[in-house]
Amino acid sequence: MGRKPKNQTKIKEISKGMKQNKLIPRLRGMRDVLQDEYRYWELIVSKAKSIIDYYGFNKTEIPFIENLALYERSTGKQTDVVSKEMYTFVDKDNDKIAIRPEATPGLVRSYIEHGMFNLPIQPVKLYWIGHLLRREKPQAGRYRQFSQIDLEIFGEESSVADAQLILIACNLFKELQLNVEVQINSIGCKECRPDYIKKLTEYYKQRRTKSKLCEDCKKRLLKNPMRLLDCKEEGCEETKREAPQIIDHLCDSCRDHFVKVLEYLDELDVPYSLNPYLVRGLDYYNRTVFEFWPSDNKNEEQAENNQASEGEQDYNQQNRQGALGGGGRYDDLVEYMGGRPTPACGYALGVERMILKIKENNSLIAESGKPDIFVAQLGDIAKRKAMVFFEELRKRGYKASQNFVKDNLKAQLELANKLGVKMTLILGQKELMDGTILIRDMESGMQEVYDFKKVFEELDKRLK
Ligand code: HAM
Repeated sequence: MGRKPKNQTKIKEISKGMKQNKLIPRLRGMRDVLQDEYRYWELIVSKAKSIIDYYGFNKTEIPFIENLALYERSTGKQTDVVSKEMYTFVDKDNDKIAIRPEATPGLVRSYIEHGMFNLPIQPVKLYWIGHLLRREKPQAGRYRQFSQIDLEIFGEESSVADAQLILIACNLFKELQLNVEVQINSIGCKECRPDYIKKLTEYYKQRRTKSKLCEDCKKRLLKNPMRLLDCKEEGCEETKREAPQIIDHLCDSCRDHFVKVLEYLDELDVPYSLNPYLVRGLDYYNRTVFEFWPSDNKNEEQAENNQASEGEQDYNQQNRQGALGGGGRYDDLVEYMGGRPTPACGYALGVERMILKIKENNSLIAESGKPDIFVAQLGDIAKRKAMVFFEELRKRGYKASQNFVKDNLKAQLELANKLGVKMTLILGQKELMDGTILIRDMESGMQEVYDFKKVFEELDKRLK
């Protein structure tokens, strides 16, 4: 008798687990968004929507799955996202499918497929909010399922678009009370970049024997030399410090474009740091690239305390890996993907990373969904009246809470306390007969009787 095939053993194990009523846990790197976090999620999304709408962007939805080839061609076969992190499968029609690891390729496909270059209002400004999957090594701020707010502008060559996109993100960060540093660079275009890559490769080839490049960088040197600048290994960091910088090798039109982006940012009072090592990890970018790095007090102190370049490196590394968003221009992608030549630019912000930072820095926002009032009741008839009264509170826009399932007043007051409301309104048999209501101040514990008809007047006074 041979051994049982592996799959059968696995199936047996799973069904055994099910029979034993064992929990089948969630997959590694996947997260449930529970109520506490969801409040932040909604807050970020609602603030983002109102800002984005103001700048004339239109919401777009794209499918969760696309042809694998879409990402291979646009994001790039050699990128980490495509070569290591994408969830792919072959479906029953033998089609090779990928679950979206980023939104830009889908939005580009959608722009081309729906002939959006013909729309009466140009440039076409799209935004998308949704979930993505990347099979990364899970850690704080790096998940296998995460969400992004993604903005793209199609059909605009001017530096105004780059600057305005950055401004929109900074406006959102300000609203969320997040301190962010804009890291910016230009990586040139297909005219000027090849010459620079030649110089960069020569520099690395000369240094190869002296310094120790990591295994990945040895491959990068052959396949994608720009990514050498992105490496965080100690030996590679050291080598790149003296590497030629693309900014000194831009053609006139790329230089002019970049200078204008910076001038607009200066004019709009958006601070930025020029970062010659910022190249981004996706293949489609040209000219302006940027990232939003968190710069909270903790990190600033750390950077000050850690002397010299070692500390700076740590600081940079931490913030790079925890970037709240990133993007840039991709003027050649639409044509490369089968559309007309169409300059474009955009970026994506990571919602979970913003939530992490808000939670770290800011308690004020967590309070925003909290009720002011609790409605408590005692006795069956009072309960009915309280239910109607609660509806009235809702219609008039008061933030109120209740638990009409509980009959015990003490238990209701305990819940009101836990919710941290300012006051509890109590309706009992006596109040019903007298046409009154009790208002209990939860901080002082003082209770006062009010004419039921004047309750809203009193609430407004107390909530002012
Ligand atoms: P990206 O840099 O790959 O760019 O992702 C943008 C942001 O998404 C990151 O800065 C980060 O905040 C968040 N993010 C990425 N991976 C994870 C993860 N595993 N867990 C949590 N958050 C994550 C793009 O996706 C491009 N499509 C941006 C773009 C739009 N470029 C042009 N248009």
